[in-house]
Amino acid sequence: MQHDLLIVGSGITGLYAALHAKALGLSVLLISKAKLESGSTFWAQGGLAFPTSPEDIEPHIQDTLKAGRGLCDESTVRLFVEEASQHLEKLLSYGVPFEDHQTLEGGHSHPRVFHAWGDASGRAVSVTLTQVVRDQGIEVLEGAFVQSLLLSDTGRVVGVQTTEGNHVAGAVLLASGGFGQMYPVTTAPEEATGDGIALAYRAGAVLRDMEFVQFHPTVFLAGNRGLLITEAARGEGALLLNGQMERFMHQYDPLQELAPRDVVARAIDAEETKTGRVYLDLRHLGEAFVQQRFPSIYERLKSQGVDISREPVPVSPAVHYTIGGILTDTNGKTTLEGLYAAGEVASSGLHGANRLASNSLPEGLVFGVRAVEAARQDLKFEIPASRTVLETVGSKASVQQVIGAGAGINRTAETIRLALQTLPHPEPRAGSIEELEAGNLARIADTVLRGALEREESRGGHFRTDYPEPDEVRHSLFQIPPLLEPL
Ligand code: SIN
Repeated sequence: MQHDLLIVGSGITGLYAALHAKALGLSVLLISKAKLESGSTFWAQGGLAFPTSPEDIEPHIQDTLKAGRGLCDESTVRLFVEEASQHLEKLLSYGVPFEDHQTLEGGHSHPRVFHAWGDASGRAVSVTLTQVVRDQGIEVLEGAFVQSLLLSDTGRVVGVQTTEGNHVAGAVLLASGGFGQMYPVTTAPEEATGDGIALAYRAGAVLRDMEFVQFHPTVFLAGNRGLLITEAARGEGALLLNGQMERFMHQYDPLQELAPRDVVARAIDAEETKTGRVYLDLRHLGEAFVQQRFPSIYERLKSQGVDISREPVPVSPAVHYTIGGILTDTNGKTTLEGLYAAGEVASSGLHGANRLASNSLPEGLVFGVRAVEAARQDLKFEIPASRTVLETVGSKASVQQVIGAGAGINRTAETIRLALQTLPHPEPRAGSIEELEAGNLARIADTVLRGALEREESRGGHFRTDYPEPDEVRHSLFQIPPLLEPL
């Protein structure tokens, strides 16, 4: 069946873009490999950063540029912050129950992070928008894994092949999130296997800045699961203590606990090495406040035997967010005709080398809508002639082990080279969804490693102990000849 627009992914970007497309009168199909209420948006805690007044627009722009360490595209940042507030209004009109109080997070000079349902802001957005999508009768395909992009003989992307069949359209918008699952310990959910990035790369699209992977500073490790403790905890006054139960952040940055994320993550890593352990201490915030402001974290950690209102919580940095991705312009347009991308899957120029906390959910709103508007001007219906090849790897764990060791929070030429030698190669063959997901991770893990090796400097989320200082401001670009087979 043919639609005007296919949207792949049901996080904030996909849901909101689908609603916008419907409002414009487009026929849209929203495809999700799991149920709609899943993925990274569903698990996001902290919230959504919006300027709180016209006077806060410039400070929000400056905070974003500063966190991005020289690699943001300034015009993209300006456009993003200037347009963001209109989407806050829209979310309120859809019924997202934002609370009145806004919070500070790392790198923000002003409390501008909006939250809902305490520390379950993403869930509030996901559940609310999913309900509106269902109420509006938007066509949805849940539990359908996109295996291939379909291309016409002019090279235009004209649809997708899913485990449930082929779908053709006038344009395709990828809103399928990042690749946190490339790493052994991550806050990213199981779904975050970089599928959209790998599909676009196989089809010949340009990827950018793949070596920039953001580590969240405060993650409680339960086995190989990372339980996020939101930056909003530090925004509300929680403190970091080292293994000697002493504060240490003043030695690393004048903003101390509220320094940008790259600084705090590396400081914690360094203190763990020096003193054995790092803790997040919320005790002085008071039991009632902690339970009311952070109810989900309180319950989740309680089930792991830690009462965050009464004892310091051991924390470590863990992979949280994919900064690089499919290169797009400010209208979500990729380098391939007919293919758009927005949100974590894309490299829009907003985040530079280090994303400012809570800018990513609003990014999905701003650029999801811009992508829909641009796609509407460019709908073309061509016959599919080929598809991107299927690629598999036996296990995700084999990729995770190599990348975790080779391109972790600290990297050197030696660790990266070893990882490049041992990274499993994706095999061109069909397989289970798990094997295809592992194939996607392996296909793009190579770009993370090559980007990390070639970037002989340290900047934001990329830290080379053999090149600890920043050097030239430049982007990394990745492209391969299309991996296609005839239909
Ligand atoms: C957090 O709540 O700390 C995560 C916010 C974000 O990643 O933007």
